[in-house]
Amino acid sequence: MTSALPYANGSIHLGHLVEAIQTDIWVRYHRLRGRDCRYVCADDTHGSPIMISAQRQGISPEALVTRMHEEHLADFAGFAIQFDNYYSTNSPENRQLSEEVYRKLKAAGHIYTERVRQAYCPKDGMFLPDRFIRGTCPRCGARDQYGDACEACGATYSPLELGDAGCSLCGSAPEERESEHYFFRLENFTDFLRSWTRSGALQTEMINKLEEWFAAGLKSWDISRDGPYFGFEIPDAPGKYFYVWLDAPIGYMASTRNLCERLGLDFEAYWRRDDVSEVYHFIGKDILYFHTLFWPAMLEGAGFRKPTAVFAHGFLTVNGAKMSKSRGTFINARDYLAHLDPEYLRYYYATKLTPRVDDLDLSLDDFILKVNSDLVGKVVNLASRTAGFLEKRFGGCLAAVYPDDEGLFARFVDAGDELAELYESREYGQAMRRIMGLADAANRFVEDRAPWLLAKDPGKKAQLLDACSVAINLFRLLLTYLKPVLPATSARVEAFLQAGELSWEGRREPLVGHTVGRFSHLMVRVDPKKVEAMLQASQAAGGNEGKPGPVASSPGESQKEEPAAEIGMELFGQVDLRVGRVEAASLVTGADKLLELTIDLGPLGRRRIFAGIRLAYDPATLIGRLVVVVANLKPRKMKFGTSEGMVLAAGGGGKELFLLAPDAGASPGQRVA
Ligand code: 2FM
Ligand code: ZN
Repeated sequence: MTSALPYANGSIHLGHLVEAIQTDIWVRYHRLRGRDCRYVCADDTHGSPIMISAQRQGISPEALVTRMHEEHLADFAGFAIQFDNYYSTNSPENRQLSEEVYRKLKAAGHIYTERVRQAYCPKDGMFLPDRFIRGTCPRCGARDQYGDACEACGATYSPLELGDAGCSLCGSAPEERESEHYFFRLENFTDFLRSWTRSGALQTEMINKLEEWFAAGLKSWDISRDGPYFGFEIPDAPGKYFYVWLDAPIGYMASTRNLCERLGLDFEAYWRRDDVSEVYHFIGKDILYFHTLFWPAMLEGAGFRKPTAVFAHGFLTVNGAKMSKSRGTFINARDYLAHLDPEYLRYYYATKLTPRVDDLDLSLDDFILKVNSDLVGKVVNLASRTAGFLEKRFGGCLAAVYPDDEGLFARFVDAGDELAELYESREYGQAMRRIMGLADAANRFVEDRAPWLLAKDPGKKAQLLDACSVAINLFRLLLTYLKPVLPATSARVEAFLQAGELSWEGRREPLVGHTVGRFSHLMVRVDPKKVEAMLQASQAAGGNEGKPGPVASSPGESQKEEPAAEIGMELFGQVDLRVGRVEAASLVTGADKLLELTIDLGPLGRRRIFAGIRLAYDPATLIGRLVVVVANLKPRKMKFGTSEGMVLAAGGGGKELFLLAPDAGASPGQRVA
């Protein structure tokens, strides 16, 4: 499985996440069913825009690409996107595979050269991509339009047709120059593509689109660019480079190869043979042409297997409109993570995803409403209003025999077959509605039995245990079904249930006579103020998109080998060490080593603490965790806010940091002896 490779010159935003979350849910669903799947992706690193962006920042394209790779990795990790490999198209594997594909296509007669006239900026010494030329639209006369299309009237044209064209880098008038280009004869693959299109690999809407392209006739594709260009030089063609879109999809294979080499897997089994593996691409509808024509044709011509299916989705809108920097709705992954729990967005997107090419609207009011009413109000609530009784009255031990629940458990188990089909066919929205329907039924049961009333009557102890045991068992099934969507929450629930991993098959048997752990806080309601703060942060960052933020220095970086000077007990006694529970953890925009933690110190209240542990811990995995906190450290003003304490960890720094974890029996606010 793959998601499209994000360009290396921009930050990950909520649009990228529609696709990453859609793919990740599918991957996690299949894993939950015990299937052997690999999820590969990479940064799409080549091309003029990246080269120019690096130039502007005064760094090499390689340095830019390396920096963005780290940023992208951290952003995706923040949303629990579980790649097996997140690689780069600027890699030796990709160079080797691109050359191999090209050589095979050439040997089979699918490549030819032709001289092409193009706009060239003499001052910058380069041919200009269409997007780097601006001028007057030849059709409607609108000024300051891009070289390929007019935003005013929609006309498409060649940049050479623009009136008073200017180079958008330096403003000077481009001249026309001729150079030799390499072309791929896509038309040679018309018959092959017609039959591949109908092989079941594509959604109906896509097939219709392709029919239009076939009717217009397939044309050769210009696969070369003249240097200077950041990319791979074409073999035996000095100064000519592969156009970024040639080596980008090959990046899927390169990432797979790199993974296979790491894990000792067989690359050929994935990319040569379609009898032992399946290949699925998730993409946006804007890059259909590349994935359903060029890409399968290249694979066919070079002797590789073709994708089993290409799944296209629509665009993201926010509050019903295109994402906009000035409205603050162009939301980067980091700005979201700094304010909100990633599980909210995973769930919200899931409720809106379909297998069709529809656009998806993130309506922020609806987002708050849905998350609060579904996840907090229906799912979390089911456990939070019954787990306490179970713990206090029965030592956490569920009923020894599964009680009469009016057939609910059996109904929940059966629903699994239908849910499996919905996940499988990417009908996530329907799946979520079905799961919430089950949650409603479970809550009705609890309301009927009213454990809070049973708890008041000592003679109703058995009924109380039954009601709570049913609720916890139904809760367990709900979380099993939500596991592909809510990985962090389901991990916390696994820790609470203490009955191993939630698994699809394991759902069939109820938990009886089993002791569950302590129920800890699973998820807080979405705070509308935090949504507002996120929008404000996005607005403030508007226009700065893609530019790296400053790097923060993290506390406690220097490591002394020598023991420090001796101190007496008296001084040591002044350090107030307490047990804290992590309530929230998020990335800090612009600080690549820090996490912002909200820590519950019991009677001492709540603290915001910045901890330099980001490289070592995925924020999602920290929620609910117990840590040791210096509770009386003087608050320190940092660039990102005030840090109200310190979380203790051991290790050499970077990835080698280990939080000190008190025994699970401890509770927030307790002194650490
Ligand atoms: O449209 C994009 O963002 C491209 N970087 C997607 C590339 S997908 C694959 F073909 F590499
Ligand atoms: Zn110029």
